[in-house]
Amino acid sequence: MREIAADRFAFGCHRFGFGPAPGGGAVDTERHVVPMVKAALDLGIRTFDSAVLYRATLQLGRALEILGVRPEEIRFQTKCLRYLGLAGEGATEHQPEALLTGIPARYQGLTDRWDGSEAGTESQICRERIELGGGKLYGVALHDGPDKEQQAGLDWEADIRPAVRMLQRAKRQGFVERIGLGVKVPGFVGRFVREEPGVLDYAGVTFCPAILHEMMGVFAEAEREKYEVTLMGINYGQAFTLTEDPAGAAPFLYNYAVANGAERELMSRFYRACGSTPLLHLAAAVAGLLVVNFPGVVTQIVTSTMTPGRLVETVRLVREAEVPAPVWAELKAMELIPREFPVR
Ligand SMILES: NC(=O)c1ccc[n+]([C@@H]2O[C@H](COP(=O)([O-])OP(=O)(O)OC[C@H]3O[C@@H](n4cnc5c(N)ncnc54)[C@H](OP(=O)(O)O)[C@@H]3O)[C@@H](O)[C@H]2O)c1
Repeated sequence: MREIAADRFAFGCHRFGFGPAPGGGAVDTERHVVPMVKAALDLGIRTFDSAVLYRATLQLGRALEILGVRPEEIRFQTKCLRYLGLAGEGATEHQPEALLTGIPARYQGLTDRWDGSEAGTESQICRERIELGGGKLYGVALHDGPDKEQQAGLDWEADIRPAVRMLQRAKRQGFVERIGLGVKVPGFVGRFVREEPGVLDYAGVTFCPAILHEMMGVFAEAEREKYEVTLMGINYGQAFTLTEDPAGAAPFLYNYAVANGAERELMSRFYRACGSTPLLHLAAAVAGLLVVNFPGVVTQIVTSTMTPGRLVETVRLVREAEVPAPVWAELKAMELIPREFPVR
């Protein structure tokens, strides 16, 4: 049993926008979002994680209203830069098809774009606060800078710095409490700290055990530079929830894109090393061990589902999932996780 307080968990809201609802189809706030938010609150979870891009904050705000919970009673963190704009003229949807199946009608026909200008950032974060229903923003993360770099090119002076300046102003005014990053590429965190020294309060990185090697460097740097690390997910989308050999499984998400051949092969090696231990249990145990062993650094696990019972299960697994000693030994022997990773 790992002692992990409920405030170490954050509920990820992206499915309130992207869907699908359990069983498929569009998300309905009263039928799907309200019970999910209630389940999180009942577990003692107080932090909710969203993003301008997720099209999810309005549904969260509405659910809180229905539940009679004031926005000030929760901690709300969101992400800016990436936003919904007009489709066409070279703007393309970069989310995988699997994540776009339940989008509410009001968001359809729009696509993802970036705006790191001061005015753009200001309007994004103000809109998030309005959709939430009021209160302060516990955190605002700069979202997907590395994706912008890969998909559209990144000019730090134009795309990142003005947003940072705006968020610093909003922090000085008390509108935003913490400035963060929300990225899928761990290496971007160090680059950000070098470019914008003293700014970062938390680095949100999409996470799964397959990137422990790289993340150990981020944890060490976080300790030195005094920022916290948020694990944005623990399964890399669906990669660690598979119950059959990933080598031959149906298409699945690995870091929120459809897994390619090398990623399938990597996940298959994990699957074989784990034997009868489910991959889901390994991912939960690794996340739990990180919180326990790096208490000042790994301060938050963001997890998400649209099924309340699964949230209960994930919280339980992060606290309790056991990985047998021979499995840890095999994972280390195969260099799938670092030898220095603390397994208790
Ligand atoms: N869209 C993006 O580009 C993106 C990218 C990076 C990070 N994020 C952020 O990361 C946060 C967390 O992401 P996440 O929740 O997708 O990542 P995750 O924790 O890595 O994995 C969630 C996946 O695990 C499944 N799952 C959970 N419990 C399960 C159980 N007991 N049995 C079987 N499957 C189970 C969920 O299925 P069900 O949902 O079907 O229950 C879902 O497919 C998001 O809220 C978001 O803020 C989003």
